[in-house]
Amino acid sequence: MENTKKTILSGIKPTGNLNIGGYLGAVKNWIQMQDEYNCLYCIADLHSLTIRIDPAVVRRNSLELFGLYLACGLDPEKNTIFFQSHVSQHAELSWILNCYTMFGELSRMTQFKDKSAKNAENINAGLFTYPVLMAADILLYQADLVPVGEDQTQHVEICRDIANRFNGIYGDVFTLPEAYTPKVGARVKSLTNPTAKMSKSDDDENGTVNLLDPRDVVIRKFKKAVTDSEACVRFAPGKDGINNLMTIYSAVSGKSFEEIEKEFDGKGYGDFKLAVGEVVADMVAGIQDQYKVYTSDKAQLEAIYRNAADRARYIANKTLTKVYKKVGFVAK
Ligand code: TRP
Repeated sequence: MENTKKTILSGIKPTGNLNIGGYLGAVKNWIQMQDEYNCLYCIADLHSLTIRIDPAVVRRNSLELFGLYLACGLDPEKNTIFFQSHVSQHAELSWILNCYTMFGELSRMTQFKDKSAKNAENINAGLFTYPVLMAADILLYQADLVPVGEDQTQHVEICRDIANRFNGIYGDVFTLPEAYTPKVGARVKSLTNPTAKMSKSDDDENGTVNLLDPRDVVIRKFKKAVTDSEACVRFAPGKDGINNLMTIYSAVSGKSFEEIEKEFDGKGYGDFKLAVGEVVADMVAGIQDQYKVYTSDKAQLEAIYRNAADRARYIANKTLTKVYKKVGFVAK
């Protein structure tokens, strides 16, 4: 049974809070996928070090993310949710893959070019080899599908190139993964800049609604959301602010755009913003209740992530042992 399911792996850097964009656009889909696929989610703490980040922040974000995934409804029995640093095979395979990745191809990665332009004072080697570690994350588990946003598809491509190159030399060692963009899932934009994606690294905190935001903060952020001057709740090109609010309202309530337009016919933006704020506040309150349940029992939480790391390590070790043998290392 287990073997016939396709394997999904995704990674999430613990560099910010989980916001409603990540929840409505990704995590909600993962819950629907948990029965159909063999799902692994790696909290990419190793990846978080490519920028300077306070150790206390790494720890807090990592644990918060973990607790939130459980709180959102990802069943820890059906999904393997683990910390990347708990499975040392990621760093080990990464070194090997470094030797099968070309300087030229890493130099062409758009994320590397963007990030090094933005952080000219800290262009470290980790930033450069970031995609190789990501390839190790994926290939260790022989993942078939990698659910990622558009900004990461180039990294999945280079992962395939590396895997292909390795397989070409040593035979079929790695499954070639594919980037996977689930069909459903809302593309939520910033509330203050509705042409840009709602991002966990947004400097303007009014633009993002975090899953741990208290009710009054959620309502206030929606009240301040940028809209146009038409004052009519209608989904139309160019009305980015309203389109975004309608997308959010629809994703949370399950109502279609038509139903929403009818519901707010003759009403102004003030009423609509309040209504969106209310449904989102109710939604995050539910998640926060669950979050409290999970995080109040530290021993249980530890048991869950240790167990997940054990499962991940078992699979990762199988792949790494095979790789070590293929490249000619003496068996332990
Ligand atoms: N690079 C991804 C991001 O920034 C995070 C990530 C790390 C990842 N390892 C991964 C995504 C493996 C998919 C698969 O969003």
